[in-house]
Amino acid sequence: MKKFPEYFLWGAATSAPQSEGHSSLNGKSPSTWDKWYEKNPEKFQKNQGPEHTSNMYETYAEDAKRMRDIQMNSFRTSIAWTRLLPDGKTVNQEAVTFYRHYFSELQANGIKPIINLFHFDMPWWLMEKGGWETRESVDAFAFYANTCFDLFGDLIEEWTTFNEPMVHIECGYLYGYHYPAIHDFKKAIQVGFHTLMAHTMAVKAFKNGNYSGRIGIILNVSPCYPKSQSAEDLAAARMADLLNTKSFLDPTVLGTIPQELIDCLAENDLLPKVNEKDIEEIKQNKIDFLGMNYYQPRRVQAPINVNKPAVSPADFYDHYDWPNKKINPYRGWEIYPEALYDVAMMIKNEYNNIAWYVSENGMGVADEERFLDKNGMIQDDYRIEFMEEHLIQLHKGIEAGSNCFGYHAWTFIDCWSWLNGYKNRYGFYRLDLENDQRSLKKSGLWYKELIDRNGLD
Ligand code: BG6
Repeated sequence: MKKFPEYFLWGAATSAPQSEGHSSLNGKSPSTWDKWYEKNPEKFQKNQGPEHTSNMYETYAEDAKRMRDIQMNSFRTSIAWTRLLPDGKTVNQEAVTFYRHYFSELQANGIKPIINLFHFDMPWWLMEKGGWETRESVDAFAFYANTCFDLFGDLIEEWTTFNEPMVHIECGYLYGYHYPAIHDFKKAIQVGFHTLMAHTMAVKAFKNGNYSGRIGIILNVSPCYPKSQSAEDLAAARMADLLNTKSFLDPTVLGTIPQELIDCLAENDLLPKVNEKDIEEIKQNKIDFLGMNYYQPRRVQAPINVNKPAVSPADFYDHYDWPNKKINPYRGWEIYPEALYDVAMMIKNEYNNIAWYVSENGMGVADEERFLDKNGMIQDDYRIEFMEEHLIQLHKGIEAGSNCFGYHAWTFIDCWSWLNGYKNRYGFYRLDLENDQRSLKKSGLWYKELIDRNGLD
């Protein structure tokens, strides 16, 4: 039996925009997702927009019981900035009541809430002023964070500032999957820096306010594997790592921005505007713990025909299609559990063995109705296999001394996923889109037994 540490957190993650529904109700103002859907619904899978999602605004109490039914002891969701502060300044009392009840209900069921502040949901009022491109976003976010700590600090012990900051940067400013869907490397870097400062000032507010508990950030990590050991491929892997991983890991955990990254941005005329005290603030406001979302590795090779100065990350590294890869065909992502051991070792050896947890890991599969058995239960053995393989690697990392305190699956109930709508399902509970009903999948039962034993056979 592979036992996990005592008090290990077992749970699942979601986000406010992907689970609450009521996205134009109860005093909430629109986020970029609400507005984008209003303008271009055709961009969204089967025209499925953010209004409804899994309706946890109404069902959180029953859902907390469902969590308890499968023995989960923790759950991450986010607060919707646009619900709590519809105009960025005025508190929406209905939102306060909702979140206080929601978090209390989780606790009453033995579920520790881990609360995140930003999950890709930029308020529209701020987007109209430039979103993360404008420095104003840093102060606006710090104000929002402070408001959350004041209003819910007595209920929440674990806070995180951002979920996967790299994603709103690259999807919004390089690859076109998030609003404003533009392609501008220089803007992407500025957006990244403002995001880092927004995070930093939220950490500062938390520390200055002497709130109890701890604060962290959730990063997506795709360990980088070069095609070969040639100097060119190794350099490409190094750059991919610097841009995608170290750009947030180093400042948030170590309080420094890698000099190599700064030099490279300078050489390519990509340096962002930085205020005088920013670097000192980053140094002074490190996180207490880290969440790592892991789905797939990054395989790279040296690029051919590059632009100088660079106009996109493709000028530093090229994707490498590893012929031996195992793939999840629905999401198009490689399945490589071994990388989770590498992540565990990287944190142990390069990041002071900071306390961390796997904040997302999971497998999205389309048309899961194919796997319904005669009792109406989805037989998702592929998901069980996926998670088991990853947990074996995580366990190996913990045995080797990595300071991991938990594992959260993506996700608890099938949820809406941005432009992909409900195409790929990830949940332990199936969501019936006709009537919002939830029903447990085989993987949910498996998870319960795993948590009961706190280990794998
Ligand atoms: C993570 C995000 O990147 O992956 C989630 O934090 C997202 O918001 C999840 O839903 C799964 O990815 P996708 O694109 O298949 O929904």
